[in-house]
Amino acid sequence: MQVSPFKNCGAVVSNLQLATMTDTELVELRNAFTEYGLLFFRDQDLPPQEHLRFANRFGSIVVNKFFKTSADSPQIAEVRKEKNQQTNIGGGWHTDHSYDDIPAMGSILVARTLPKTGGDTQFANLAAAYDALPSDLKTKIEGLRAIHSNTHLYGENGLYRLTDLNEQLGGMDRVGDATHPVVIKHPESGRKVLYVNPGHTIQFEGWDFAESRALLDELYAHVTQPQFTCSFNWLPGSVTFWDNRCTWHQANNDYQGQARLMHRITLAGSALDAA
Ligand code: SIN
Repeated sequence: MQVSPFKNCGAVVSNLQLATMTDTELVELRNAFTEYGLLFFRDQDLPPQEHLRFANRFGSIVVNKFFKTSADSPQIAEVRKEKNQQTNIGGGWHTDHSYDDIPAMGSILVARTLPKTGGDTQFANLAAAYDALPSDLKTKIEGLRAIHSNTHLYGENGLYRLTDLNEQLGGMDRVGDATHPVVIKHPESGRKVLYVNPGHTIQFEGWDFAESRALLDELYAHVTQPQFTCSFNWLPGSVTFWDNRCTWHQANNDYQGQARLMHRITLAGSALDAA
């Protein structure tokens, strides 16, 4: 197994078949996942049952509350965009399930149907972004907590409900909020990580909305600089596995008139502690 750093975030893992890896390779993979927080794989043969088996070998599965699930398994979420649909799932920067008290640890995304061009996924490295924050900003966010929500997306009149994505979504009654430290200590690597994201973080606890918005926008402008982000071009057989505690992602919506289907399995995490 070979692990090569990829642009500004993550690493490409080669010489490994996820479906048939040995227990020793699984240990090496865990180490790479802790070190990089984002792994890319090419030329995998990972049908739904093998996708599930890999996920179960790595951790325990947690099911998304809103997405449709695959006919293959209720544990596989479909990230689907039909040919005639305008809006895509995950088209803005976010990290999965930060609105839960115990956010998801990681997500394993497998390409099933790809557009001829476009549909890349962009990623951001939140550990590197935290390290590079100016010291006055580090001081400003130390000890803060932030509120994360899904109501503005999936609740009644939520942003997604007003689009042509609505028919694919369920769970309007399952919306809710959670609060987390703004700087977390990553549960495995111990690194300090900035844990707010544009999709789900709505404000800082004890701050008003406008004040929160101004600081969040400053943090987001920092994270989205090219030195902390990268883009992954999907090919048949591609798989990505990201750590939701130290990355963001967003799916480009630049393939109107074509379909795209990805299978996502999300792995359960643990409560997040302040750094
Ligand atoms: C997601 O937000 O999990 C989907 C990412 C993608 O479709 O590329």
